[in-house]
Amino acid sequence: MIQTLARNRGLACPRRRLVLSLALMAAVPVPPTTAGGESIALSVDASRGGAKIDRSLFGQFAEHLGHGVYEGVWVGPDSPIPNTRGIRNDVVTALKALKVPNVRWPGGCFADEYHWRKGIGPRRAVTLNPNWGGVTESNAFGTHEFMDFMDQIGSEAYVSVNVGSGTPQEAAEWLEYLTAAPPTTLAQERAANGHPAPYKIAYLGIGNESWDCGGNMTPDYYLSQLKAYSRFVRNFNPAQQQDPHRMLKIAVGPGGDGPRWTEWTDAVMKAWQGRSWSWDLDGLSLHNYTVPKWPPSHKSTGFGESEYGEILKSTLEMDRIIATHSAIMDKYDPQKKIALAVDEWGAWYAPLPGTNPGFLAQQNSLRDAVLAALNLNIFARHAERVRMANIAQMVNVLQAMVLTDREKMVLTPSYHVFRMYVPFQDATYVPVRFGAGTYTHGDITLPRLDAIAARDAAGKLWLAVTNLDPNRSVAVEASLSGATPRSAAGETLTAPRVDSVNSFDAPNTVAPKPITAKVQGATLSLTLEPKSVTVISVEQ
Ligand code: AHR
Repeated sequence: MIQTLARNRGLACPRRRLVLSLALMAAVPVPPTTAGGESIALSVDASRGGAKIDRSLFGQFAEHLGHGVYEGVWVGPDSPIPNTRGIRNDVVTALKALKVPNVRWPGGCFADEYHWRKGIGPRRAVTLNPNWGGVTESNAFGTHEFMDFMDQIGSEAYVSVNVGSGTPQEAAEWLEYLTAAPPTTLAQERAANGHPAPYKIAYLGIGNESWDCGGNMTPDYYLSQLKAYSRFVRNFNPAQQQDPHRMLKIAVGPGGDGPRWTEWTDAVMKAWQGRSWSWDLDGLSLHNYTVPKWPPSHKSTGFGESEYGEILKSTLEMDRIIATHSAIMDKYDPQKKIALAVDEWGAWYAPLPGTNPGFLAQQNSLRDAVLAALNLNIFARHAERVRMANIAQMVNVLQAMVLTDREKMVLTPSYHVFRMYVPFQDATYVPVRFGAGTYTHGDITLPRLDAIAARDAAGKLWLAVTNLDPNRSVAVEASLSGATPRSAAGETLTAPRVDSVNSFDAPNTVAPKPITAKVQGATLSLTLEPKSVTVISVEQ
């Protein structure tokens, strides 16, 4: 399976262009005030507001893959690891601090082979997980356990139904089981299994990568499936019949930006534009991992500045890929009714030595923290169209928020960025102008700086600034118009090396520390350490 995935990814990502660009492609750029010098000017127009930065951009993804669910989330009620109804307490506490808006489950490729009935009731079938490591699947973590997990962390369910090997009827019955209020046989079965009240299902994913592991479908074949699923898979929860509580349906979208992917987006959006009353959509998914070549060969630890630069250069392609698909979507949907949901993104490295390669286990370094900030900034700048994103994956898999080993748990550098960015959830985008400058290593040139700003619901102004340069600190002078700052402070995240990680023995090597800006009139001054992510709020 990994082989297949790898081969197809290779086709999907045939070329990688030179990207020199955040300033060139993001906020309206202005030349650096001190070209080549150590100071960069930012101009924040706090009197202007842009799109809402939907909190769903900070979503997570939990697939039955490796130790993502089993051991990472689910240890079972009899485990000596402290848990609540089988779900580990340490992971719940960590995730609650992220205010996780939604969790996509049960996959990924796993979803298109998942049969929900095997994961309910007192006796669970043991099945196989042929996609990921060829291990058995106990089905101990099923529908009720997932919904309990959502309750415990205070998040919304994004359920991906089986289009590949399932049927519209199987998916329709799952949704009836989950959401029906009247005493249908399925609703009674749900009650007998411990949950009389209908569940809330905020998002429905109709298939996963149906062009590949989800069934190798052509756009036309997928569209015929999509229409049937969109029509028949209903949410019956009485509290979810009207906007804004309605369940949002997300179709399979592209996996890159070559012709194969632009044709896919075009086909789905064209079909949507010509839809009849009987089916509809709310979102189109986009999957785009940071992986310069397939199979993934970059190491997640023990790398140097060259690999730091290569990965960040690759991750910045997200902006172009989103722009490409947004432009196609604009053609059919100028009012931006359909959201682009980047529901799989993040760094995909070589598996850690000694692990099952199908478990996609990797470490998480300061490089991943910078990568996370850059992507969140890209999403924020595209917030009018990009209204959902799910990093892959939440626990122990790929670019994880937390890593566990039996009773131990550690917060990753990526976790800290997600926690520092919480104030941006549902905040209003505020334009920032800056000349990013450049950072060059060998034949790679990247912007030296990236920044976004936003105003939260209480009116407070927030600024996130990333210094990509691993060698030079940078003095930032941020002039605010439309705001009168009294003070500004927050947190900054850096570490001694680009490949610094948090381990079970040294969990705080990459940890945020306080930072304060100097305020003079309407200008904030602060010095950003090399390879750092900083978030500050402005008191007025
Ligand atoms: O996140 C790992 C896998 O990557 C998912 O299962 C699949 O959708 C994608 O190819």
